[in-house]
Amino acid sequence: MSNTANAKLQIEKVKESRVSSIDFSDLAFGKTFTDHMFYCDYKNGAWQEPKIVPYQPMTIDPSARVFHYGQAVFEGMKAYKDDNGKVFLFRPDQNFKRINKSAARLAIPEFPENYFFEGLKTLVNMDKAWIQPGVGNSLYLRPFVIAIDSAIAAAPSESYRFMIICAPAKAYYKGTVRVLIAEKFSRSASGGVGFAKAAGNYAAQFYPTKLAQDRGYQQVIWTDADTHTYLEEAGTMNVFFRINDTLITAPISDRILDGVTRKSLIQLAADNDIPCEVRPIKVSEIVEASKDGSLKEIFGAGTAAVISPISAFEFQEQVYELPEVNEHSYSSRLKSKMLNIQHNLAEDKNGWRME
Ligand code: COI
Repeated sequence: MSNTANAKLQIEKVKESRVSSIDFSDLAFGKTFTDHMFYCDYKNGAWQEPKIVPYQPMTIDPSARVFHYGQAVFEGMKAYKDDNGKVFLFRPDQNFKRINKSAARLAIPEFPENYFFEGLKTLVNMDKAWIQPGVGNSLYLRPFVIAIDSAIAAAPSESYRFMIICAPAKAYYKGTVRVLIAEKFSRSASGGVGFAKAAGNYAAQFYPTKLAQDRGYQQVIWTDADTHTYLEEAGTMNVFFRINDTLITAPISDRILDGVTRKSLIQLAADNDIPCEVRPIKVSEIVEASKDGSLKEIFGAGTAAVISPISAFEFQEQVYELPEVNEHSYSSRLKSKMLNIQHNLAEDKNGWRME
């Protein structure tokens, strides 16, 4: 059961909004932030008064443990506006559960459920002028927790800051994505933190991803750390493979993120009579399927990435090109179904939207 806490949310508003100075047609992902931010500190064994204040830099001691031991977890979620100006979150309960699951693994105290939802809804409401209506637009929401104890002892912090910041967002990946399949480096190991949205999971990918980028690939598809035999996830997204008419995605484990987009697509596939198997998938299976023409699609799925078709993959120095995406591709069909639900343009029979 989630805990709750009792302090009243304190609000300090900006004197003047910056929203009219923003060119929404030309936004790089995650570089522009809205007028306000939410934060709540943990000290003396309890979460203190939650606050919404103008977005601003903050002062943290150089010895704060987050800087030394990476005790930090985060979430990625989005708010959408329909053509009538109504604003919706998509499955925020899933993000709430996951941030506390990630936190538990990094010895960070659980955040109270009522603080999370009141803070999130109030913040999104206050900054809703920053959400552009229409499919393709959203407000990316980044809840995160950092360890702020001023002490470099290698032990869990006794004080933390939970925050939510918001960035108007369009697509994360522009154009098609080419990927390299990992044969040497690994993202996560059994018993580790791969399932958590731990900040360090992302830092650890930057170097191998940079090597892949230098060779013309945007992303790495990670394989199991022991044998590099099984396909796992792409770091910023989970991955789906279509062989003939069947979609396949790897089962979640302690090495793979339990993606909200991933689980929503599995459900949407079932709702739309698209066969979908959740099972281990070998690299050799997609190599063979590519050779015999039965590999029709690969796409990534994530909150930021939405659904990103993959146009080619490299494995053992061989490049395998995928067929071009068209409106009948599963990625196109599932993406439009998903976006229509998120933007209140389609029936939400699974109850995923929260106004
Ligand atoms: C998301 O999809 O929201 C993520 O957290 C991935 C991030 C690297 C942008």
